Amino acid sequence: MSTLKIHHIGYLVKKIGKAKQSFETLGYQVEQDTVYDDIRKVDICFLIKDGYRVELISPVSADSVVSGLLKKYKNAPYHICYEADDPEAAYLELTGNGFAAIDTPTPAPALGGRNVVFLTSPVAGMIELLY
Ligand code: NI
Repeated sequence: MSTLKIHHIGYLVKKIGKAKQSFETLGYQVEQDTVYDDIRKVDICFLIKDGYRVELISPVSADSVVSGLLKKYKNAPYHICYEADDPEAAYLELTGNGFAAIDTPTPAPALGGRNVVFLTSPVAGMIELLY
């Protein structure tokens, strides 16, 4: 098994500016200020607290990939992102063990253009695999 390391927790928010301020009140520090992801039509920023990295994600338009999820979940965490030492092997192992890819590996502008792919499991929910 390729070793998976938690990279961040993805957290949906309606208003990213105000959410960022609230997370700062909780003691988080901004690691990377808001970046627009034009592929997914979302604003993204990263904050850190106690070694935990949280990714705030907010839809910029109604046809964003997360607009439907935001309606369903409101402001809430919705995925854990894993970084693999061997992403290709991890992808094969995950898809062979109950995880189904819901998109294809696509560059993430907020992560320096590294590829990410989202997968879901009927028993473990949504994850993100970082290449
Ligand atoms: Ni993420």
